[in-house]
Amino acid sequence: MEPKSSATLMDKSIDESKQGDVFVKEQMLGKEQGKRFYIESYGCQMNFSDSEIVASILGDMGYSPTPHMEQSDLILINTCSIREKAEDTVRKRLRVFDKVKAERPGTLVGVLGCMAERLKKKLLEQEQLVDMVVGPDAYRSLPQLVADASGGDKGVNVLLSREETYADINPIRLNSNGVTAFISIMRGCNNMCSFCIVPFTRGRERSREPFSIVAEATELFNKGFREVTLLGQNVDSFLWKNPETEETVNFAQLMEMVALIHPDLRVRFSTSHPKDITDEVLHTMAKYENICNYIHLPVQSGNSRVLKLMNRTYDREWYKERVESIYRIIPDCAISSDMIAGFCTETEEEHQDTLSIMEFAQYSMSYMFFYSERPGTLAAKKFEDDIPLEVKKRRLQEIIRLQNQISFKQNQKDIGKTFKVLIEGDSKKSDQDFKGRNSQNKMIIFPKNGGLKAGDYCEVKVTNASSATLKGEIIQ
Ligand code: SAH
Ligand code: SF4
Ligand code: F3S
Repeated sequence: MEPKSSATLMDKSIDESKQGDVFVKEQMLGKEQGKRFYIESYGCQMNFSDSEIVASILGDMGYSPTPHMEQSDLILINTCSIREKAEDTVRKRLRVFDKVKAERPGTLVGVLGCMAERLKKKLLEQEQLVDMVVGPDAYRSLPQLVADASGGDKGVNVLLSREETYADINPIRLNSNGVTAFISIMRGCNNMCSFCIVPFTRGRERSREPFSIVAEATELFNKGFREVTLLGQNVDSFLWKNPETEETVNFAQLMEMVALIHPDLRVRFSTSHPKDITDEVLHTMAKYENICNYIHLPVQSGNSRVLKLMNRTYDREWYKERVESIYRIIPDCAISSDMIAGFCTETEEEHQDTLSIMEFAQYSMSYMFFYSERPGTLAAKKFEDDIPLEVKKRRLQEIIRLQNQISFKQNQKDIGKTFKVLIEGDSKKSDQDFKGRNSQNKMIIFPKNGGLKAGDYCEVKVTNASSATLKGEIIQ
């Protein structure tokens, strides 16, 4: 899953028909008329996707979104606990909300997501301004928690569930470009990577009913969306069992069902776990042009001893074999990764193994971190966090420098090639240029031309490349 750390502010591109629905419900039910909520999201795509579920639940209560926190009745922050820094960012934002609340005393503040789950009611003790603490499986209780908080009762619901997938909730798309959308296909994680807090904050893994996934993707396509990303902490272990017939649907089959909706609907997915990605998945990707040739396959470390300590359940050889299979079955596939520098007891030679596996895999890009001990995880209990911060940072710099070199070299190879690109909108820097991605998930910037618009496909020839972006021109 791609970690993000920027705040997401709501914009006005929320689906009009949904706003219409909310309006009708307000009229009929006389609920919370005219109330507004403001939400910021941190962490992985899963959290951003959850915020869209929260927006839908609040919509049903008569709350509409606003991008201005000073004008809102309810301020929500959907939080991440993955590294200490992620939690520090959230604490800083809470200080900003303090000020808004001082000026508008009735404003309610809710902490959602992984930090809510990790800290539970401790958060209410530590953060006086917080009125609600709501874990990732408890969003259906928001109406009650908001009502209680309005009456002055602070509330916590951090119950984790074995069943909750929010399958019946139609997310309200926030910050949407109208072209690409995320669909959660599963929740939780059953892997116990020793460094990772996610199994504690998100609970047991469960897969969402596949027909509700296909229905959501179909509805998006009918509204003009042209790309869906199927989300889960470990999508390759998706497995849904029909309780009546005992029939099962695995990830490869689910991906095929979504790909068959329409050839113009691109399918992406994230995240794949190296131990679970099967040849069946790779062959399904190769079979459908609209399943994008891009796999996020986090390696974490290139050394087998460290991988064992991390409890990743694969070793260096296994990972290399999976990379070879990907390039054999899908020759033009791009692979990206996550790396952790300076995990407990990592030696310089073991760090070199991470650098050499990066060379081997030729990642198009990576998310790179230094190890941050998380309370309660297996690593925190069993191993000493013994690599000095300067060493962690220096190793991370070496990893980043190498990734930049690899990305640059890879991107240079794209010069002169032509790609089918899905236009996502205007480029950030100029409204004279479009931005869009190729199948390999690389962003390409190119001058506008003719009557094309966001959501259209076009053929773009790459003319220029840096380590981060490709530039090109439309080929008629
Ligand atoms: N399910 C996803 C991981 C989500 S967390 C997967 O398996 O890829 C995203 C990334 O954060 C992880 O891949 C890992 O590289 C990083 N990460 C997780 N815990 C961390 C920690 N304690 N310190 C540093 N990085 C961490
Ligand atoms: Fe964390 Fe591992 Fe699960 Fe990913 S697969 S969320 S790294 S425990
Ligand atoms: Fe995602 Fe952060 Fe939670 S990465 S699952 S929001 S701890």
